[in-house]
Amino acid sequence: NDERTFIAIKPDGVARGLVGEIISRFQRKGYTLVGLKQVVPSKDLAESHYEEHKERPFFSGLVSFITSGPVVAMVWEGKGSIAMARAMIGATNPLASAPGTIRGDFGVDVGRNIIHGSDSADSAKREIALWFKSCELLTEVVRS
Ligand code: CMP
Repeated sequence: NDERTFIAIKPDGVARGLVGEIISRFQRKGYTLVGLKQVVPSKDLAESHYEEHKERPFFSGLVSFITSGPVVAMVWEGKGSIAMARAMIGATNPLASAPGTIRGDFGVDVGRNIIHGSDSADSAKREIALWFKSCELLTEVVRS
């Protein structure tokens, strides 16, 4: 019930006015927003976040894109949130994402795919710690 995942609306998603739509989808699904901020990520933060892709040909383009403007970083909590958020987001390539998913409904370009979600429990833990201080996240005490 207290599973947490890290979700980031990328600069294209923010610029296209999709923040409200995306937050609304996670709220309607039944998840709880326990952390939220808008930041222009530093190069350091972006490189750490995408560390696993650092040997890929698209890495430098990915880092310059993600640091090019405001990102809305969020932590969502609830039963099965890591896998369910990935399902709600859709496949990495928006053209391969089913209609009904966020990327399937709103995107066409793999390099501008609107949103990121943690792919595992380990990634969620790492990414939440990278983007948020613990005092920026709600605790059970605050929520109840
Ligand atoms: P994300 O889920 O944030 O995780 C890694 C990101 O790398 C991915 O979304 C895409 O935005 C990006 N990516 C993956 N493959 C490519 C590609 N072939 N070209 C450009 N960007 C890519």
